[in-house]
Amino acid sequence: MIEKIKETVAFLRSKNITEPIVGIVLGTGLGQLAGHIKTEVSIDYADIPNFPLATVESHSGKLIYGELGSKKVLALQGRFHLYEGYNFSEITFPIRILKELGVQNLLISNAAGAINLNYTKGDLFLIDDHINLQGGSPLAEKGIEKLGPRFVDMSAPYSKELNTKLKEIAATKNITLNEGVYAAVVGPQLETRAEYRYLKIIGADAVGMSTVPEVIVANQLELPCVAISVLTDACDPDNLLPINIPEIMELAGKAEPKLNILFTELIKSL
Ligand code: HPA
Repeated sequence: MIEKIKETVAFLRSKNITEPIVGIVLGTGLGQLAGHIKTEVSIDYADIPNFPLATVESHSGKLIYGELGSKKVLALQGRFHLYEGYNFSEITFPIRILKELGVQNLLISNAAGAINLNYTKGDLFLIDDHINLQGGSPLAEKGIEKLGPRFVDMSAPYSKELNTKLKEIAATKNITLNEGVYAAVVGPQLETRAEYRYLKIIGADAVGMSTVPEVIVANQLELPCVAISVLTDACDPDNLLPINIPEIMELAGKAEPKLNILFTELIKSL
């Protein structure tokens, strides 16, 4: 792994990705922010040594380096999921690369279902804490201690300081920002009614299929991170409608400008 990281980092530096300060992971249907970056370098994942390939069509699979909010940012447009058949090491490899390239803060977005029925579809959700239901860890690997500690503290996985800033920005901009616990499942099938009931009972406010492995690795690397979900569907076990993926994508797209404001203003403030 260390050799692979070195090789990938050397390749990206040779492409003039030299001083990124902020790393961004853009979730499903949430690639618009990349369009706001004053792009200096854009590389397809397929052309980056050791990078897994993005497989889901809604993820275009590009690394974008440039300026946003007058800071140098490095954005991953398209992430890797367990449900695509990748393992925990593969889906978190890009986070290790961001850190090695010098990124000091990590901003993550995703689409999630609202378990907490006080939330409204299309609203944003600030992840304050999480429950890992993915049945594994990116740190449960032979030799992991060469990359950082194995027994990583998770008492505050999301940066309190950055979350406070995001809440202030949301208030100033009149953007509703719910806050709570995100549960990560493997997917790709959606949850049953019984599973939604269970998620509520165990204390989840939202559910999705990503983010937690990346956050675990960010914590191992002592990389402060924040994550915001776009709530794309109401997970009401007593009135559950069949899943409508086009509607989820449409809702994600509609909510995206709000997310872009929060991330851009946060980057400006760093
Ligand atoms: N469950 C899991 N992942 C999701 C959902 C959901 O209801 N909505 C968007 N991503």
